[in-house]
Amino acid sequence: MIEFPISLTYQHRVIFTDGVFDQENNVLAEVLTLVPAVLRQRARVLIFVDEGLIEADPALPGHISGWFVRRTGMFDLRAAPVPVPGGESCKNDWNQVHQIWSTIHDAGLDRHSYVLVLGGGAVLDLVGLAAATAHRGIRLVRLPTTTLSQGDGGVGVKNGVNYFGKKNWVGTFSIPFAVINDVRFLDHLPLAEKRSGYIEAVKVALIRDATFFEEMAANVTAMQDFEPAMLRRVIERSAELHVRHIATGGDPFELGSARPLDFGHWVAHKLEQMTHFAVSHGEAVALGIAVDLIYANLAGMLAGPVCERILQLLEDLGFKLWHPALLQSVSTEEKRLLVLQGLEEFREHLGGALCITLVIDIGQAVEVREMDEKLVRRAIEKLQARALAADVALSL
Ligand SMILES: NC(=O)c1ccc[n+]([C@@H]2O[C@H](COP(=O)([O-])OP(=O)(O)OC[C@H]3O[C@@H](n4cnc5c(N)ncnc54)[C@H](O)[C@@H]3O)[C@@H](O)[C@H]2O)c1
Ligand SMILES: [Zn+2]
Repeated sequence: MIEFPISLTYQHRVIFTDGVFDQENNVLAEVLTLVPAVLRQRARVLIFVDEGLIEADPALPGHISGWFVRRTGMFDLRAAPVPVPGGESCKNDWNQVHQIWSTIHDAGLDRHSYVLVLGGGAVLDLVGLAAATAHRGIRLVRLPTTTLSQGDGGVGVKNGVNYFGKKNWVGTFSIPFAVINDVRFLDHLPLAEKRSGYIEAVKVALIRDATFFEEMAANVTAMQDFEPAMLRRVIERSAELHVRHIATGGDPFELGSARPLDFGHWVAHKLEQMTHFAVSHGEAVALGIAVDLIYANLAGMLAGPVCERILQLLEDLGFKLWHPALLQSVSTEEKRLLVLQGLEEFREHLGGALCITLVIDIGQAVEVREMDEKLVRRAIEKLQARALAADVALSL
């Protein structure tokens, strides 16, 4: 055997700014000049933009082009910003990957160029996959434009699209060259999307940071009103906790089977798939967290009042904690809950051994190697009963 270790050090950069394409804002220019140009004077740049963002802010592509025009001597913008259909459906259409590859190819990008992507988590995942595989990897600068992607997905090290009807079945681990979080993009987000990102902040607080949880609980009204300072704080802390876990948790490329950041996600991924993504990722994670919290409570691992307090916070933040698909059977003959297949799929995703993160107190997580299916059903039924009781209370 001939054996050599290969170690590489990456820098994972997440930069916070306000108005990245304001003419005077130089954050992006600093990022794009971090690495001295070796091949040519001006770095080649190509920009993909989520169509949902363009619809919400039609002037944006012009602003972007204007920013680059002002810096023509520094950068070679190879084409006008390229629109990409937004939302989960873009991850279900392999042609999109091909389309992005073609655009990169036609623009003459190489491994010394930069792909910039502005968008929600779905567009970041799609363009990220295409950029990571074109020429075996072109530097990627992500500019997440949803609360969820600024606080979680966009600051991570994964990309991927859905395949065989399964979430993120094709994808790579690939550390972006930089992530630029510009809170101003969120001005244009519909409220439901704005709220969606809160769930990943609550999730990471539940498994890592009780103080952050208490901070959110104490500022729930400011969060409901999306007060800019609180929104910014929630995103920054959520991003920081996610990035810290990835960078210092010892397993950035998920070679082991523990996935604490996927707390609540085994149900969530399955629900998204079962509802053909009518339930958004954020909504699905809220439901998944609720099921796993009640499960932990029924299993005697989480105190009832703590469980209820967390569920209440989720509801106060505007998450609906019931969806009928949770009780859908596999078929009329097979009464097993379809959502339980999410456990097998999660196991497959982890690479063989099941490892589910459960919360035993605010800020404290444990890993379990199996889930009791009867208890999962009871947890779901309890969630339903809770929702029904709330409906009755409302109608009284
Ligand atoms: N790679 C990872 O580590 C990781 C982690 C978590 C989530 N994700 C993925 O992220 C995706 C969810 O991302 P998301 O919640 O950001 O939603 P999304 O990307 O589906 O976007 C939601 C909608 O908002 C629109 N939009 C985006 N930015 C906008 C803006 N500023 N103003 C107005 N509209 C805007 C989009 O066009 C889309 O219609 C899922 O596919 C999930 O699997 C990936
Ligand atoms: Zn998530």
